[in-house]
Formats: sequence, C-alpha cells, structure tokens
Amino acid sequence: MLEKIKQLKEELENISVSAKQEVEDLRIKYISKKGLLNQLFADFKNVEADQKKAVGQAINELKEFAQNKINELKESFENAEHAGGQTDLSMPAEPLRPGTRHPLSIVRNEIIEIFARLGFTVAEGPEIEDDWHVFSALNFPPEHPARDMQDTFFIQKDPDVLLRTHTSSVQVRVMEKSQPPIRAIFPGRVFRNEAISARAHCIFHQVEGLYVDENVSFADLKQTLLYFSRELFGEKTQIRLRPSYFPFTEPSAEMDVSCSICGGKGCNVCKYTGWLEILGCGMVDPNVLDLCGIDSKKYSGFAFGMGIERITMLKYGIKDIRHFFENDVRFLRQFESTI
Ligand code: DAH
Repeated sequence: MLEKIKQLKEELENISVSAKQEVEDLRIKYISKKGLLNQLFADFKNVEADQKKAVGQAINELKEFAQNKINELKESFENAEHAGGQTDLSMPAEPLRPGTRHPLSIVRNEIIEIFARLGFTVAEGPEIEDDWHVFSALNFPPEHPARDMQDTFFIQKDPDVLLRTHTSSVQVRVMEKSQPPIRAIFPGRVFRNEAISARAHCIFHQVEGLYVDENVSFADLKQTLLYFSRELFGEKTQIRLRPSYFPFTEPSAEMDVSCSICGGKGCNVCKYTGWLEILGCGMVDPNVLDLCGIDSKKYSGFAFGMGIERITMLKYGIKDIRHFFENDVRFLRQFESTI
C-alpha cells in the first residue's frame, strides 16, 4: 500500500494541465467523495496493525499534498483569466477622470465674472468676526434678534467674538479702509445657528455687493441687478423689487426673478407664483456710511446680498441643500464647467 501511495504522489508531482477542466478532473479523481483518497481510506482497515501508523500518516500527507496541488493549479488558471490570458502592454490605460468643480464654486465664479464685467472687484473678510463689523456698524439696534444666541454662534468666553452671520460685515471692513468710488463684491462663508434641513444649513455661502460713489441712485441698483439676473438666468429674465426692511439699507427691497424653470408660467419650484426670491438689497443707510468713515452728505451707495446655495439650487433644480456638503461624487460629477 505504501508503494501505491508513493506512486500516486509522484504522479501528482509531475502532473501538468493545460485547461481548467483538467484541474476539475483531477479534483474528482483524487479528492472527491469517490476519489482515490477516499478509496485509500476505505482500504486502510485491511492494513496490518503494525503498518497502520506509517500508512495512516502517508495517506494523510498525500491528501494534503493533493489538496494543495489542486488549489494551486486552480488559482493559476484564475489569475491568468483575470489578466485576460496574456497581458497586452499596448492597451490604453483605464481613463483617469479629471475632477469637477463644486457646483457652489461654479456659480460663485459665474457671479464674480458677471460683476467683473461691470467693474466690480472682489474682496474678502474674516469668518471669525466681532460685534462691530457684523452688527453695530451696520445699524443693528442692540436688541435686534439676530444678535440672539439662537441665530448667531458666539464664543462663550467672549461675546465679542462670533462667526459672521452674513457677508455684509465685509462692506464695513472695505468702507473703513477705503474711500469712494467703491465697487466690489464679497463672496464668502457664513454661519447661523439653524437646524439643518433640506432648505437650511448652519454653514452656507453668500455674495455681498457694494457700490458707493457720488450720486448713486436706486435706478443704478435696479439696472445693475437686472443686468446680473439676465446674465445668470437668461436674457428673458424679468425682475421684481418688493419693499422690505434691513437695518443697514434705506429704502430696502427684496428681489425676485421670473422663474427660470417655467419661464414665469408657474411650477412647483416657484410654487406657482412665477417668481423666485433671490436677494436682499437697498440704498446704504447714511448712518452706516458715517459709521464707516464715509461722508454721507457727499456720497450715496447701494448694497445687495444673496445666498449662493439658494441660487445654485434654483439654477440646477437641486431640491436638498445638504447635497452640497456631503461630497458624494455621484452628485458632484454632474457639474462640469469651463470656469
Ligand atoms: N445681509 C443680508 C442677509 O444676510 C442680506 C442683505 C440684504 C445684504 C440687503 C445687503 C442688503 O447688502 O442690502 O440676509
């Protein structure tokens, strides 16, 4: 019997196969239920008592050897299949997809470009601010609810350190540092203590605009915003100004654009009104000019502020603001841009 085992092992050692099916045939021949090894185990009971130990060991060794050999052969076929049989080194590589710009960056850059054509430059200010730049210099009365902990993120140790709730703070910084003519926009990130939902986030982005010079009028504001809206949403876009209130502008207005989705006929995006509210604006309150060191008797100005998320959602029909912050490439890849 030992002789037979030795023979089988030699046979296995020298075996060569050329097809996957042959490996399967080997498995059946050696280690399947009715295979040679099980036959050996069956014959084992007839082995002389004094040989049992040696024969038992030899069968077990053969079994392990057969199993390893068959697995090895199987694997080598699988690897070859994976590599496509032979590797063709002249094949083109897997294409590398270039990254895409974030939709908020695309729209921010578009807004910057539009205003650049009207001579507006870009300025930025700090995200961590103080009460003066976010509220006091902008004419917010001390008891104004925006100063409430519920709306503004304050630093507990020092109530004069806070995260800016709007980019209007940059208006103040620019006016403090320069004299008219001032014509600039201020894109940036803002923070509000709000519950996160499909429509609201505690971090979002705004673009603020400011124009201060001699004889700046409400008509200038209106034409500027009309030009901007048509560049951004299409030349047929109409605008509508509704009276509103902001502490830092007088008079103040909110601006709607005709719905770019339905063309003003009414749809679920504009809630069947035909209009979409996109920004707040107004003539800079003379108090604000004076507080920032600009002579309100000589100069006047207009300002406006808009949320980039909101505009991007309207432009692309995005229904949930949280998409912007989740970094899911399936969402992000849908926005290709040239800017
Ligand atoms: N700062 C306002 C906000 O965050 C937006 C705004 C409204 C800015 C009117 C302005 C403006 O410059 O004139 O909601």
